[in-house]
Amino acid sequence: MKKKQDRYFYIFAALVALALLCVILIVAVTNRGGNGSSAAPSGGAASDVSPAAGAESGDASDYDSPTPETSGETSGETSAGPSTETSSLPEDESSAPEQKEKPLLINKDHGLPEDYDPGEMVDILARKDRHFQLAHADMKLQTEVYEALDRMCADAEAQGVTGYILTDSFRPREEQERLYSEMPAGIAAPPGYSEHETGLAFDISAYSKNGDFGETPQFEWLYAHCAEYGFILRYPQGKEDITGYSYEPWHYRYVGVEIAKEIMSAGMTLEEYCGD
Ligand code: DAL
Ligand code: ZN
Repeated sequence: MKKKQDRYFYIFAALVALALLCVILIVAVTNRGGNGSSAAPSGGAASDVSPAAGAESGDASDYDSPTPETSGETSGETSAGPSTETSSLPEDESSAPEQKEKPLLINKDHGLPEDYDPGEMVDILARKDRHFQLAHADMKLQTEVYEALDRMCADAEAQGVTGYILTDSFRPREEQERLYSEMPAGIAAPPGYSEHETGLAFDISAYSKNGDFGETPQFEWLYAHCAEYGFILRYPQGKEDITGYSYEPWHYRYVGVEIAKEIMSAGMTLEEYCGD
């Protein structure tokens, strides 16, 4: 009888041990399941080029930027492709339906994020196949932005509108500081508050122009088509109270095609689009 009891005891103990083992295994497997990861902001993009033309400079009159310094350059022609970029909306970890990235808003009230990194940028002078000229040699833009700009100028050229000259592009902080201290008040943005520090914006003109760029066929074409390439006229006429800057027919900002079309077709500013 005692032996039988012992046997039951051992069976019972073995079952308890087995159950414990199972619990331990389940806990171990469950803990192994990972957590999510995060996405980093964005910066530049990637890319490539096309042919272009000679050089020269526009006149300092309409630049918000440094006076075109002049380059030594050649011409060419051809095209490339566009793309996006801008934003910094916190990424939703849940698998929410696709949503448009909010464009990065930079103005007198919104400076660049402390950790902003434009990423790898295109050294535009080295792109000999581009479709526009350069007013000075040190020109850089985020890759995606450069591609969109070059494709836009190539398409303009194919439609008989030529003679674009890039008068300014990415500005390092020190350059923005210099301009801010040298330009008349209200023209250059304070350091840390300029779109030029992002590599997403540029100033453009027509090298054969006489007078305002805003009165040229090059401007007319650009204004009508820039959104197709992801650009907006950033400081439109009549919106000075909203943007905080005077009309700048030469300053364009990349926000991506979809958003650019929305903004330009509605005659909005980036501030209005962002609800700010
Ligand atoms: N002129 C524009 C506002 C800038 O300096 O960024
Ligand atoms: Zn500008």
